[in-house]
Amino acid sequence: MKTSLAESTETLQIKPLKDEFGALIENVDLQSADDATLEKVVQAFRLHGAILLRNQTMEPDDLMRFISAFGEPELHTQKNYCLPGYPHIFRLSNMTDEDGNALGAHNDGVGWHTDYSYKAEPVMSTMLYAVEVPDEGGETLLADQVAAYNDLAEDRKAQLDPLKIHHSYVHFVENREFNSYQLTDEQRQDNPDVIHPMIRVHPADGRKALWISTGTVKHIIGMEDDEAMKLVDELVDYVTQPKYVFSHKWQKGDVLMWDNRCTLHTGSLFDDTKYQRMAHRLWVKGEKPIAVETKEP
Ligand SMILES: [Fe+2]
Repeated sequence: MKTSLAESTETLQIKPLKDEFGALIENVDLQSADDATLEKVVQAFRLHGAILLRNQTMEPDDLMRFISAFGEPELHTQKNYCLPGYPHIFRLSNMTDEDGNALGAHNDGVGWHTDYSYKAEPVMSTMLYAVEVPDEGGETLLADQVAAYNDLAEDRKAQLDPLKIHHSYVHFVENREFNSYQLTDEQRQDNPDVIHPMIRVHPADGRKALWISTGTVKHIIGMEDDEAMKLVDELVDYVTQPKYVFSHKWQKGDVLMWDNRCTLHTGSLFDDTKYQRMAHRLWVKGEKPIAVETKEP
């Protein structure tokens, strides 16, 4: 039986991106779509974990209209890489202006993670719009953490359901492979450590995701550090097996948007001596992660 959410998307032409995960939406032009059509796209996003729309033409105002259909847009930490006049549109790029200044962040987001996992209310979704793409490399990979959770044995689910993870922005910046920088006192104060559930419940339909990450994870509450990090490594390896991963090869005009409540993502590198890349990234504000209800021991 269809749910009301599924019924609300039935005029969209949808194909899965991979197995049960994601939605390639084929019959919508986002620039000219009316509000009712955009609402259907939003509902498809809520159900499928990620959406892809190809051959789109999106001016900055079109991007703002589209992202606002999903919720309140989130601002970005590094303001200097935002599109002038559009503080919610962040540029991922290896391109420079005529004076040699970088137009965007390069090699940002390499390593499996979920955006803003170090915040009390991590961003709900991330959208990328491809303006310039490399001929090879530079893929975006999404891991379906709902499928990964569902495949766990029942006793393993019961073991992981109550676990809580300590995330730290300071730990992330000081240990990252690319774009490491010196934190200011203000940045430290603005980003206090947070504790999140390891298993996250999706507010749309209650599906559960194995909400692990790398980079910001410092500790698992109640476990010895060695044991905790061994478990984190084991789980990240598990959820990022090829059977759970959709790898997106970019074309100009692609709009890819994923739900950070039930996916992990990473970028792959490309030959930046040969190719130029320009993508616009927009975020939607999120809510405090919902934990699995477990019985008190
Ligand atoms: Fe990211």
